[in-house]
Amino acid sequence: MSRIFINYRRLDTEGYVGRLYDHLLKEFKPTDIFMDVQNIEPGADFVQVLEDAIAACDIFLAMIGPHWGKLYNEAGERRLEEWNDFVRIEIETALKQGKIVVPILVGGSQMPNPSTLPESIMSLSRRNAFTLTHYRFAEDVESLVGFLRGLIPTHPTFKRRAAPDVIARKEKALKDLRLDLLNAKESPLYAYRTEQRYYPVLGEGYADANIMIVGESPGKQEAETGKPFIGPSGEVLDSLLDVIELSRADVWLTNILLDRAPDNRDPNKEELDYYGVYLDKMIEIVDPRVIVTLGRFSMTYILRKFNLPEKTQTISKLHGKLIQIEAENSNLHIMPMYHPAMVLYNPSKRDVLRQDMQRLEMFT
Ligand code: URA
Repeated sequence: MSRIFINYRRLDTEGYVGRLYDHLLKEFKPTDIFMDVQNIEPGADFVQVLEDAIAACDIFLAMIGPHWGKLYNEAGERRLEEWNDFVRIEIETALKQGKIVVPILVGGSQMPNPSTLPESIMSLSRRNAFTLTHYRFAEDVESLVGFLRGLIPTHPTFKRRAAPDVIARKEKALKDLRLDLLNAKESPLYAYRTEQRYYPVLGEGYADANIMIVGESPGKQEAETGKPFIGPSGEVLDSLLDVIELSRADVWLTNILLDRAPDNRDPNKEELDYYGVYLDKMIEIVDPRVIVTLGRFSMTYILRKFNLPEKTQTISKLHGKLIQIEAENSNLHIMPMYHPAMVLYNPSKRDVLRQDMQRLEMFT
């Protein structure tokens, strides 16, 4: 869902919008920001697309530069009065939909006098404006961002983009955890790992991901490289992430077992207890909004960890169900899915996995 809609006229404020957009990206995801025509597919009904986009946003920023109301077409008609003027149509729509409309004054412009505006957007003049000055642009945008932060409702599936220092801290914490695991001589699979010259597989991806995916255990290829899901199951997983237009770099990808078990046998209780502590730490560091479990071992571990009433149910009942953790201040959800390896044995299951994956779109 686009949360911030930026309305602007290219000839008037394009340069300012570019700068503003770059600053906003430090705080919000690109998908949180809708910038009119750039996002409209050829052939689409533009009024409908604009209405839908504005309906989906929380805040509407109307950029007003020095030429905003003063541009004319070749026939001498003011652009603001043209039947198909995007700028006016968008403002009309936002006002009609009762959105929070904030005029953003740039380039030394002033709020337009209502008598100079088409009737449908006259009330824009009464909206309190924000001014972005040339010399204090970064500071001015900072206070605009502070204002936007206060206004944008926090949806339980939404995670604000963390500041670079927060992300760096998380990356460091995960790196330390990996080192700790590498040297954990007491781990139940340490002897087997060193004997086979394998690596432990802590996980990889985005340290501040909204979505955390927990598989079962590293296979041979994974243990030889230290990377999760790079074998055939990984290919299936990549194609599933593609359904919601994500790549593995957007999520945190790990397993319930962090070392390969001999002959890929099922994890035993001692191993689950031991590696579960590492998984708990990863959940704490990454702080996702949803944990997607792949297969029954990670599902059971996570459902038990959060002591959920569903903990005794089977994966065939629970796959694709979004379970919200009820604890106070918790925005965490659990979604069990079948393991992608299932598709390798039974290709007809691919559709089930794709449908389940689709449900995660709200976290992207
Ligand atoms: N590779 C992994 O990393 N985990 C699995 O569960 C399967 C393959």
